[in-house]
Amino acid sequence: MDEAIVQGVERLVAHVREVDGVRGFVARAMRAVPRHQFIPDVALVVPGDPEKAFVIDRERDPVTWRDMVYSEHAIVTQLDEGRTDIRAGAGAYTSSSSAPSTVAYLLTLLDPEPDDRVLEVGTGTGWTAALLDHLVGTQGAVTTIEVDGAVAARAAKNLAAASVGAHLVVGDGADGFPQGAPYDRVHVTCGVRKVPYAWIEQCRPGGVIVAPYCPGFGDNHVLRLVTLPDGTAVGRFPGYASYMMMRSQRPATYAPDDGSGLRRPTEVHPRTIGLAPPGADLAMAAITGLYAHIGREETRFLSYVLDPAAPGQWAVAIHHRGDAEHTVYQMGDRPLWDEVTDAYFRWVSWGKPGRERFGMTVTEEGQRVWLDMPDQVIGK
Ligand SMILES: C[S@@+](CC[C@H](N)C(=O)[O-])C[C@H]1O[C@@H](n2cnc3c(N)ncnc32)[C@H](O)[C@@H]1O
Repeated sequence: MDEAIVQGVERLVAHVREVDGVRGFVARAMRAVPRHQFIPDVALVVPGDPEKAFVIDRERDPVTWRDMVYSEHAIVTQLDEGRTDIRAGAGAYTSSSSAPSTVAYLLTLLDPEPDDRVLEVGTGTGWTAALLDHLVGTQGAVTTIEVDGAVAARAAKNLAAASVGAHLVVGDGADGFPQGAPYDRVHVTCGVRKVPYAWIEQCRPGGVIVAPYCPGFGDNHVLRLVTLPDGTAVGRFPGYASYMMMRSQRPATYAPDDGSGLRRPTEVHPRTIGLAPPGADLAMAAITGLYAHIGREETRFLSYVLDPAAPGQWAVAIHHRGDAEHTVYQMGDRPLWDEVTDAYFRWVSWGKPGRERFGMTVTEEGQRVWLDMPDQVIGK
């Protein structure tokens, strides 16, 4: 390997080792399976804020390309499901190589053992599948599913060039891949609001499922479930993880702020809801089943709430800089703002529990979110 690449790999390994909670076995796998083998020549680097995203081109500027591949940044490899050329630099991010620290954190939680049978959902570039293949060390023990045919074709080439024997399937990862079951581990690298039961059904008892839980309400969370012999799974939210959503579970489009709808005052500051901590976000999402997001402008702070089942139903609470009063505009009959603020104050009345006190049970009938113990269900 080129000396500069070796130095890049070592920089990445050192960075990942410093991330809280990441264990050494993942950093060692990242040394054995260098990331550059999976990154296309032209891609989009996203250093946190999408406004600062920039294109890297290996042919035009190989040094920047290499430095970014071995940086802590996520690298977007597809825009708008391939309808927009990556060189445009803007669009909906639909495939990527996630930030190495996030990849390392999720793999640490998965904790695969040699010879485990693993299902990965969301192949993307193929890098995570290759890391999993290295960690389990058994030919053909890793199956990875990608919904996008073009993304899968590129990943297949990357995996073949790196001599990785993972089994790549094109399909909807929500269905799992029953032909490869039972799995010891299911590793999900796209966000979900609802955990598909197929993943639990296809895991053996004691199996581990790690998935980004992104209910579309403020902060996102990583979920680690363990499967039980009765065909259910139970687990908690050990930390933060944000991923692009599973195709079939993408949130509703953002509501417009066109000043329409029923106008009324609210005593609750829009920031109280919009900037609530992760535990509150988890509780509000589970209790109400709604989506929320914020808007920040020079003179306004906006807190939106949307009903995913009824796109015309939404509310926005607005704080104007310098104003003591705040206003809510509500579209549709359902008092969404009141539902969300009620859920927030329930969370306050419980003593403001952090995300680590919440958990989830998944059965064939669906999912339940609970506080502290599985019998203290708060929502779905
Ligand atoms: C963040 S990327 C995955 C990164 C990947 N693990 C890697 O190492 O490069 C998310 C991927 O999930 C895929 N995806 C979205 N919905 C899916 C679904 N229903 N089934 C399978 N893959 C899906 C996207 O097309 C995208 O490639």
